[in-house]
Amino acid sequence: MSERLVRSSRRAGPRPDPGVVHIGLLGCGTVGGEVLRLLREHADLITHRTGRRLEVAKVAVARRDKPRRVPVPPDRLVDDGWAVVQDEGVDVVVEVMGGVEPAYTYIRRALALGRPVVTANKRLLGTHGPELLRLADTSGVGLYFEAAVGGAIPLIKPLRESLAADRIHAITGILNGTTNYILTRMSEEGWTFEHALAAAQEHGFAEADPDEDLDGHDAAAKLAILATVAFHAPVTAEQVYRDGIAAIGPREIAYARQLGYAVKLLAIAAERDGGLDCRVHPTLLPLTHPLATIRDERNAVLVTGAATGPILFSGPGAGGTPTAVVVLGDIIEAADGRGSGAWPVRDSTFLARPVLPIGDLVVPSCLFLEVVDRPGVFAKVAAVFGEEMVSLASIVQKSRGETADVVLMTHEAPDGAVQRVVSRLRAMDVVAAVGPVLRVQEQEPRPG
Ligand SMILES: NC(=O)c1ccc[n+]([C@@H]2O[C@H](COP(=O)([O-])OP(=O)(O)OC[C@H]3O[C@@H](n4cnc5c(N)ncnc54)[C@H](OP(=O)(O)O)[C@@H]3O)[C@@H](O)[C@H]2O)c1
Repeated sequence: MSERLVRSSRRAGPRPDPGVVHIGLLGCGTVGGEVLRLLREHADLITHRTGRRLEVAKVAVARRDKPRRVPVPPDRLVDDGWAVVQDEGVDVVVEVMGGVEPAYTYIRRALALGRPVVTANKRLLGTHGPELLRLADTSGVGLYFEAAVGGAIPLIKPLRESLAADRIHAITGILNGTTNYILTRMSEEGWTFEHALAAAQEHGFAEADPDEDLDGHDAAAKLAILATVAFHAPVTAEQVYRDGIAAIGPREIAYARQLGYAVKLLAIAAERDGGLDCRVHPTLLPLTHPLATIRDERNAVLVTGAATGPILFSGPGAGGTPTAVVVLGDIIEAADGRGSGAWPVRDSTFLARPVLPIGDLVVPSCLFLEVVDRPGVFAKVAAVFGEEMVSLASIVQKSRGETADVVLMTHEAPDGAVQRVVSRLRAMDVVAAVGPVLRVQEQEPRPG
């Protein structure tokens, strides 16, 4: 039994049942409501499997008077998070309220008080994850966050535990369901970006304000969490290079398909030159690549270990019920008191590994241009590539009357050089438009 459980059984008043674990819930929305429902509906199953009974002691929400899909007994409902965090009778604090503040302050306090914390909060962990892991380590309690990345897909525990003895070279993932849905619909139905986004919102995948998804912030936060765990190095979302999907339309996707590629918003963390590459950007993947077949709102992550080779994890990346299952798994582990939850990601084992600048990355890229359709123009465009030492692998040109679409695939070249080419092309009067630059991933990043 965990130290915390022993402590809580020493409270004044009637002697509590030592097999009961008291949960304090911060938030009772999409995920929190489902945690409550599953706790009720699966109560016997959980007790049978764990030998413990999980009971909700207190639930904090923003507005007590709001109608709730899953009812909460009024005597346990509060509108002050401190009433949960400071409650002596709470054994495990479960943060499913989202946002950075006040969740950050609540979690810090709970850990400092020696209470294990379960959280699904990618935004908070993407910013303060390494620091909170250190605090959990020094406080000797667990910080569990399986649900913060990939919804119901188990990723943190396999990385922390099952694969702890392997050296992870790379993590390549589709970590945002909204953008994957939009890219899939543009690819399969030829929908415009706006149509696909509206459909995602209608289905409830995208937020009313979807910018966090579209500009790659959401995926960057999740990648920072995965990289911190996989490489035992503190990585925050701020350090992740980020480029969203707003510039991509059905035309670019159709050209990519002709060339044998799918367009995916990939989150990539990989070892390179003694440091780490951490980037989120739209990427061309060969149509045969395992991640190219991940459709709609599904998420998937390819973990490449030195000894294991690539392992694919895939499943629902969000949704109240799937996410709540994983939150409950963390609660059960926290209640069981096995390990500290922070193991083996402890402050003492964090390695100093610099996150490398994107400009030094060497990959092939694909550029989409619209140029004036007259003789000699292409020679001028090609000269810019030559002067920046970026060699071209293939060219597709299609006349549209006054202008022509040109799709250029480069050989491997430093990203910085490709960006210089793009700036120079933008300034040329024969170039009507420069579309998105899509980096190409033919295979998983090799150990560098
Ligand atoms: N939804 C998903 O599919 C999913 C998947 C993976 C991870 N997550 C993560 O899980 C967390 C929760 O997401 P969600 O979708 O469940 O959010 P949500 O539906 O918006 O629920 C948030 C809950 O927190 C409560 N709350 C907000 N501010 C509060 C405050 N200051 N004090 C006390 N309670 C407060 C709200 O109270 P009221 O009910 O009174 O408004 C609500 O019950 C987020 O970190 C999210 O990123 C969500």
